[in-house]
Amino acid sequence: MKIIDRPALAPLTTLGLGGRALAEIRLDSPEDCLHLDDVLAGCGDVRVLGGGSNLLVHDGDLPFVVLRPLFGAKSPCGGAAEPEILGEEDGPDGRRTLIRAGAGMRVPHLLAWSAARDLAGLEGLVGVPGRVGGAVAMNAGAYGCSTAPLMRSLDVFTPERGLHTLTPEGWKAAYRHFSLVEDCAWYISVSVVLSLRRAAPGSVRAAARENFLRKKSVQPVHERTAGCVFKNPEGLSAGKLLDEAGMKGRRLGAMYFSPMHANFLVHDMKCGLPGRCDDALALIREAQKAVFEHSGIRLSMEVKEWSSCLC
Ligand code: EPU
Repeated sequence: MKIIDRPALAPLTTLGLGGRALAEIRLDSPEDCLHLDDVLAGCGDVRVLGGGSNLLVHDGDLPFVVLRPLFGAKSPCGGAAEPEILGEEDGPDGRRTLIRAGAGMRVPHLLAWSAARDLAGLEGLVGVPGRVGGAVAMNAGAYGCSTAPLMRSLDVFTPERGLHTLTPEGWKAAYRHFSLVEDCAWYISVSVVLSLRRAAPGSVRAAARENFLRKKSVQPVHERTAGCVFKNPEGLSAGKLLDEAGMKGRRLGAMYFSPMHANFLVHDMKCGLPGRCDDALALIREAQKAVFEHSGIRLSMEVKEWSSCLC
């Protein structure tokens, strides 16, 4: 465990915005969680950070401590850790392989590892830069795939129950939503067991490549963003609604809605202006108002907001 005083959060997010937290606690092993009670005593609010790829962090001094689980990110010899192969199971679509991945593992690493072994299921997550714990917490997905249906069990830590293992009855998942059934103030994913379908040689790599090319042609994958800002309303595209309401390219300071895909808010790091979360929030409010006035639809945020206000 390592504790960092008043860390800047902007470098820990893909959007590159945000102020300073009270402290950052890096958790290198699940056993570190067992000391959190003592370390956090009197610290107040807690947030859990994955890869920071779906986050909008407020500017200024932030009244919370950030927990950063890094289990499963590195192997004992220093390189990226490998998932563990646990066994096999039969599924309606053929043989499946069960693997365990640590929550701190990078999604691109997990995807490359499974593609090299022709294990299918994750190829829709190509281009998602986050960590496995974040993919679980968001039920991340794209191109017809999402994380939760692949999950067979999840090891978690909660302040109320400590380290324990959940099976699918222990969580609730929906489109871009994941929560535990049990009551808890917060939880840390430690590792997840995924069931991946055995596919034809080369087919997973080919599907991932195809998905990435599709993504690259319509999404600003090389810009600083937090992925899609708004959830898609049922049967509709938030990007299309924002586009029709005239938000494409709309800019405030260093922040703008991508001219390529209106549901991506981009942080222009080269414009010479400081990136401000206040500008991002003003654009988000303006976009919600514009879409409501244009189509009568209220867009809700997909990106998680870490507010400077505990109210
Ligand atoms: N469109 C526009 N203008 C725009 C953007 C999109 O007219 O500015 C139109 C497109 O032409 C298309 C339709 O809207 O006809 C849908 O767009 P797209 O295929 O890009 O998909 P999306 O619904 O905008 C969703 C997910 C993405 C995911 C893609 C591919 C959400 C909010 N978005 O985007 O997920 O990568 O499908 O599966 O669920 C994310 O969650 O962060 C994310 C980027």
